[in-house]
Amino acid sequence: MNAILSIESSCDDTGASIIIDGQIASNVVSSQAIHIKYGGVVPELASRAHLINIIPVVNKALQDAKLTLNQLSAVAVTQGPGLMGSLLVGFSFAKSMAFSLGIPLIGVNHLQGHISALLIDSKPAFPLLCLLVSGGHTQIILMEDELTYSVLGTTQDDAVGEAFDKGAKLLGFDYPGGPLIDKYAQQGNPKAFEFPTPKTNGLNFSFSGLKTSLLYKVQEGQSQDLDFINNHLNDLCASYQNRLVEYLLKVFLIAIKEFKPKSIGLCGGVAANSLLRSKFNQLGIKTKIQSHIPDFQYCTDNAAMIAVTGYYKFLQKDFLVLKATIF
Ligand code: KG4
Ligand code: ZN
Repeated sequence: MNAILSIESSCDDTGASIIIDGQIASNVVSSQAIHIKYGGVVPELASRAHLINIIPVVNKALQDAKLTLNQLSAVAVTQGPGLMGSLLVGFSFAKSMAFSLGIPLIGVNHLQGHISALLIDSKPAFPLLCLLVSGGHTQIILMEDELTYSVLGTTQDDAVGEAFDKGAKLLGFDYPGGPLIDKYAQQGNPKAFEFPTPKTNGLNFSFSGLKTSLLYKVQEGQSQDLDFINNHLNDLCASYQNRLVEYLLKVFLIAIKEFKPKSIGLCGGVAANSLLRSKFNQLGIKTKIQSHIPDFQYCTDNAAMIAVTGYYKFLQKDFLVLKATIF
């Protein structure tokens, strides 16, 4: 039996998970509410909250998996990218734990973790073309096998999660507003307002123009009606969300045609968006390619995605030397 403890602390969620022989046995996440009043993640506050959360979160992951520390075979941890102070808390904790237990330490790239979430409950055929959409990243990634991948395209400014959250802030929602845009959009008309489709540039993305066009739409509306946002909230959310989703899938379809994958996968926090999920599956049906989307708990930041990557690295004996740092 091999049992790997994994830790994820790259941003504002403290996560720990246990994977036993390739099956997720526990997955615990503690989200940090402290950032809401600042309208975004405050790095220093995030690091301090990780320090408070990490021991209870790891203990709960062990308890849920009915394991004790001395049954662990390795510790896997997010090595980057992410907020430096936040990474440092998880990484130092994992490194100390591996050292004190005399077991290997496995470093995992956070973005590789997001795409590996697609391997948790399903066995997608390779090559697997992934659309990774999160608060910090928007990428198209080709996965050749469980551990081999290449980034084909990325955002040149904001990530799509930021486009959701900044748009939501403009409409008066608290951070992170992406899920609220999703909620209100369900009652709105996606054709009520016209937003421009950003120009495509290879397989790269750009979202800052769309966010600005929402600002102009709101300013124009408020010049006629001071209560413009409240009077058109559902339609604004539906139209803005619809354009974001259409644009993501337009660029992804170009990649499908170019790389002819055997399966396609959607992952990252924004993969929780209901319109994107359903349009992504429709795209799979239209192109006759099997589509995969992880369970909600594996879309937003979590340690199970680090655990599954750690498991494949463990099988390859891809370990860090214990003097390794996050840099
Ligand atoms: O992957 P994640 O938890 O963190 C990063 O690695 O960035 O993604 C968080 C992002 C936030 O921008 C949040 O607003 C967005 O995912 N998000 C959503 C939804 N649920 C989460 N965006 C749109 N619709 C949703 N239902
Ligand atoms: Zn993430």
